Amino acid sequence: MSNKYFSTIDEILNNIQNWQITTADDLEQFRIAYLGSKNELKPLMSHIKDIAPEDRKAYGQKVNALKQAAEEKFALFKEKIAEGAAKKQAAEMDLSLPVDLKMGNAHPISQMLEQVIGIFSRLGFVVADGPEIEDDWHNFSALNFPPDHPARDMQDTYFLDKDYALRTHTSSVQVRLMESSRPPIRAIMPGRVYRNETISARSHCQFHQVEGLYVAENVSLADLKQTLYYFAREMYGENTKIRFRPSYFPFTEISAEMDISCFVCNQKGCPVCKHSGWVEILGCGMVDPNVLENCGIDSRIYTGFAFGMGIERALMLKYRIDDIRLFFENDIRFLQQFKAIV
Ligand code: PHE
Repeated sequence: MSNKYFSTIDEILNNIQNWQITTADDLEQFRIAYLGSKNELKPLMSHIKDIAPEDRKAYGQKVNALKQAAEEKFALFKEKIAEGAAKKQAAEMDLSLPVDLKMGNAHPISQMLEQVIGIFSRLGFVVADGPEIEDDWHNFSALNFPPDHPARDMQDTYFLDKDYALRTHTSSVQVRLMESSRPPIRAIMPGRVYRNETISARSHCQFHQVEGLYVAENVSLADLKQTLYYFAREMYGENTKIRFRPSYFPFTEISAEMDISCFVCNQKGCPVCKHSGWVEILGCGMVDPNVLENCGIDSRIYTGFAFGMGIERALMLKYRIDDIRLFFENDIRFLQQFKAIV
């Protein structure tokens, strides 16, 4: 009686050993037969009650050995098949294909900032930094803004409380720099600024500026013009022309706006320059002596010039981007067009 059961085990063991496994399919069939939820080994243990008591131990051991044989064979072939698949894949790999690496790139604003910093650093300007939350003194008063200036209005400025606001320009960093160091001062101030504007394709409540400041003895309007002329040619091409138009800023006297010859149409007239041949890129002027005095610099000895430009605006002109909101949406379809523009 017991012999019948013992020989069943031998038979199954024989089957396990002889099962041909060459493909992943074969392996799966094997798994179902011996390791799956309805495998052939499961019923064997229930026969133990039909086995003579003295043979039960041996029977149990044989069933376990059988299970082990099935598991070992499965593990061995699983590995072999995986290895085979990897080798096959390696053999089929076309090493001459271009790599599809999803490389990120710097944001166009960062790239432009780097470019501007690079140009001015060649003229000896260093980079200065300051806080985005500013007090009235650094953002307005030291810069000669009269108490009733519209920029001090809630409409234009984000006030956090009665003393603090989000800076509306990086001129506040100029004040900090002049307060904390002695001339000669030659620095640019890149950074994010905030204005309480309705968000539209043309304007945003946040944008980036680079401002510049040069304070020393005998700094003249000629120095301002030459510096900005150098910048314009480096940035927009060596044939770029510049012109200055009178303007007004509370902190400069005299004040001007600088235009460059249209780099799109070469002054033939196009929508970018609105058919005028010129595009406005920055504000500038000679630092008002009052501002120097406010910052503890003797205006009888020192003079200075300052300028400031908007980075988004410059990018929009250069790449004919018609919606400023694109810079802040992080849509990679937009950003990926600026792979290493500089
Ligand atoms: N602060 C000015 C602005 O935000 C720019 C500027 C800076 C103009 C320095 C003149 C001199 O518009």
